[in-house]
Amino acid sequence: MFPTTLLTTLLLALSVAANPVLVDRSPVTLPISRRLNLTSVHNLVRHDQTRAKALKARGAAKAAGASFSEAAVINEPVDNQAVTYVASVGVGSPATTYSLLIDTGSSNTWVGATKAYVKTSTSSQTSNKVSVTYGSGSFSGTEFLDQVTLASGLVIPKQSIGVASTSQGFQGVDGILGIGPVDLTLDTLSPATGSTVPTVTDNLFKNGVISANEIGISFEPSITGDDLNGELTWGGTDSSKLTGSIGFIPLTTTSPANEFWGINQSIKFGSTTILSTTAGIVDTGTTLVLIATNGFNKYKSATGGVIDNNTGLLRFTSSQFSALQNLQFVTAGGTFSLTPNAQIWPRALNADIGGVAGNIYGIVADLGTNSGEGLDFINGFAFLERFYSVFDTANKRVGFATTPFTTATSN
Ligand SMILES: *[C@@H]1O[C@H](CO)[C@@H](O)[C@H](O)[C@H]1NC(C)=O
Ligand SMILES: *[C@@H]1O[C@H](CO)[C@@H](O)[C@H](O)[C@H]1NC(C)=O
Ligand SMILES: *[C@@H]1O[C@H](CO)[C@@H](O)[C@H](O)[C@H]1NC(C)=O
Repeated sequence: MFPTTLLTTLLLALSVAANPVLVDRSPVTLPISRRLNLTSVHNLVRHDQTRAKALKARGAAKAAGASFSEAAVINEPVDNQAVTYVASVGVGSPATTYSLLIDTGSSNTWVGATKAYVKTSTSSQTSNKVSVTYGSGSFSGTEFLDQVTLASGLVIPKQSIGVASTSQGFQGVDGILGIGPVDLTLDTLSPATGSTVPTVTDNLFKNGVISANEIGISFEPSITGDDLNGELTWGGTDSSKLTGSIGFIPLTTTSPANEFWGINQSIKFGSTTILSTTAGIVDTGTTLVLIATNGFNKYKSATGGVIDNNTGLLRFTSSQFSALQNLQFVTAGGTFSLTPNAQIWPRALNADIGGVAGNIYGIVADLGTNSGEGLDFINGFAFLERFYSVFDTANKRVGFATTPFTTATSN
C-alpha cells in the first residue's frame, strides 16, 4: 500500500505525462550523424583556419555594411569537409531526402550540391538568384519556396531554400541546413538585396510549431568515423542529455564575432592564462578548438607539445599528456573545462588525419592570427562534443551544460 502522498505524486506525474497539449508544442528533436572524411595531410588544421579566416572576413564585411563577396576575397584552396554533422531533411511533397550539413556559422538552407533538386507540387521558384561563399566552399543558384520536413511534426510549408546550380567544396553532402543568426543571410539574394531570408528556426517559431526561438545541440565524442550520435532540438532543450544546469552567456557586442554565435570568454590552462577575456564564437563547422596565435603559443609552451608535421596538430609525449591540466573556458555563464582527455584527438582515429597510431595529438590549434581582432577563438566540435549547447535567438544568448561525456575518457 502506497502512502497517500506518494500515490498522489505518482498520479500527478502520470497525468502530466499523458497531457497531449504539452506534447504538441514540445521541443522537437532531429537525429544527426557525424561523418569523418579526412584525406590529405594538414587538412584538419588548414580547413579550420581557412574557415576562421572566411568567417572573420565575412563578419567584418557585414559590420562595414559591405557584402562579403565584394569586400573579401579568400585566396585559399577549397578543402574537403573534415568532420561534419549531417541531418536528413525532406524537401517537397512527396519529399526527396537530402543529407545536409548542420552549420551554426551560416544561415541559408540549400540543396543540390550532390543529389539534384526534385520539383514537386509544393515547389515554387522565386525571381531571386542566391549565392553564398564559405571558408571551405561556395554555392550559387536559384531561390525557391518549398515544403521542408525536418522530422515528423516538424514541417515548414513555405521555406525559402537555395537550389544550387554550381557548388564547390561539398563532397558527400547535398547542401547546408543553416542554423546561424538570420543576419548572415543579408544580401545573399539578388535582385532582392538588402533583405534577409528567414531561417528554418525563424519559420518554425513564427508558425507556432515551436514555442521558443531556440536550438539545443547534443554531440557525443566518438572513436569511430561515422556515427549517429547527435541530436538537434528545436524550441527547447533535451534535458535527458544534460547532467547540470545550463549556464547562459549573453551574445557578445564585439565585431566581427557578434555577426555569429559570439561570446566573451577567457581561457586558462591550470592557473596559467592562455587568453584574456576576449570575443570569439561557438561553431559546429569548426572541428578543433582554435585560439589566437599568441594564446595558442602560451598553450603550446605550457603543455610542452610540438607541432606535428604530418597532421599540423600539437603532439604530446605520454608524460606531457599525463601532466596536462584542465583547459578552462571562463564565461559569464560559468567555467567549462576540457579535461586532459578532452584535449586530445581520439587516438583510434589517428590514421584518419594522417597521424601515426599510438601518438597523442591535441585538439587545440592556432587560429592563425593574434588576438585583438574581435574573433579570437572558436569553440568548435572538440568543445561541443563535451558540452550541450543552446543557441537562443529570442534572448540573445548561448548556453552550455555538462553532459555524461564532459569528463569521459573516450579519447
Ligand atoms: C571524401 O573525400 C574524398 C576526397 O575529396 C571525396 O572524393 C569523397 O567523395 C569523400 N567521401 C565522402 C563520403 O564524403
Ligand atoms: C564583451 O567584451 C567587450 C570588450 O571588452 C565589452 O565591450 C562587452 O561589454 C562585453 N560583453 C558583452 C556581452 O559583449
Ligand atoms: C617539420 O618541418 C619543418 C619545416 O619543413 C622542418 O624544419 C622540421 O625539421 C620538421 N620536423 C620534423 C620533426 O620532422
